[in-house]
Amino acid sequence: MALLLSTTLQAAGADGTWTHITNGKVWTDTNGKVVQAHSSGYLYKDGLWYMVGEDRTDPWRPDVNLYSSPDLTHWTFLAKIIENGVTVKELGRGRFIERAKLLYCAETGQYVVWCHWEGQGYRASEAAVFVSDHIDGPYTLHKAGRPLDIKSRDCNVFVDDEGTAYFISTIEENQHLGMFKLSKDYTEPLSCQLLFAHQQREAPAIVHVDGIYYMLSSACTGWDPNQCKMSHSTSLTEGWSPLENVGDSICFDTQATAILTIRGTKQTTYLYVGDRWMDPGLPESKTIIFPVTFKDGQCELIYKEEFDINFTTGEWR
Ligand code: DGJ
Repeated sequence: MALLLSTTLQAAGADGTWTHITNGKVWTDTNGKVVQAHSSGYLYKDGLWYMVGEDRTDPWRPDVNLYSSPDLTHWTFLAKIIENGVTVKELGRGRFIERAKLLYCAETGQYVVWCHWEGQGYRASEAAVFVSDHIDGPYTLHKAGRPLDIKSRDCNVFVDDEGTAYFISTIEENQHLGMFKLSKDYTEPLSCQLLFAHQQREAPAIVHVDGIYYMLSSACTGWDPNQCKMSHSTSLTEGWSPLENVGDSICFDTQATAILTIRGTKQTTYLYVGDRWMDPGLPESKTIIFPVTFKDGQCELIYKEEFDINFTTGEWR
């Protein structure tokens, strides 16, 4: 039976309220339905967190759902933004989506979804781009295929401080990572910088802290968890430091999907978001959130089964 994510809000005056986050449980939305948003991607806009992710109710034919929340715990279902057989005919019939990520392009006012666009045996190795004038759709397919003719699988997106967006994916049969700089409207790859040659990394997630970019990534072990590694650089396209182990040997039974920045009045807190896959099946995979610190090229994953966070002050306890 689905368990409600335990959430406690306590009054805390001008310093906001404390939100209690409990890990390891199935999330339910504000209508009491199980949240289905695996490999989630996040967009923070106008005081709300928007989350897109795979609806694995039918484990091998994922649709893409969109939710919103003020506090990462009370999730309202907004729409199924990409649906098998509806948004694109072949989707769900030999083609499937993984790791959908949502961008807002201020230049065009459009919402752009980048994702992994696959076929049997992961042989297609393609990406797809969907666009919409509204966050909750309708989304139309802009393009699907290998970005710049490069085989591309597991992926994420990153928007730099000045608004340039990047698509980052595991390229050439899981050998390397590719950092694709995107066009101003976020829909086209312009260039690709190969990173971490032959180091077989996937599930990349990037954050920018005090002038340093930090990237977390995993090895390629299917749905099984493995050692998370961190690298840092002052440039997105070069100078990444050698990969270093962070967390325990299976990253607390998770694989990274995002790093969130909570900018409060007293401090900035970073939250690691990962998938606890096959728990026990794909539809029951859990989204796990816990604090992570980044300082002077160092990173510490602070795994907590439960913790409180104050979205006003940025503090956690
Ligand atoms: C790990 C990836 O991160 C997932 O998105 C998915 O592709 C699985 N591998 C498939 O085995």
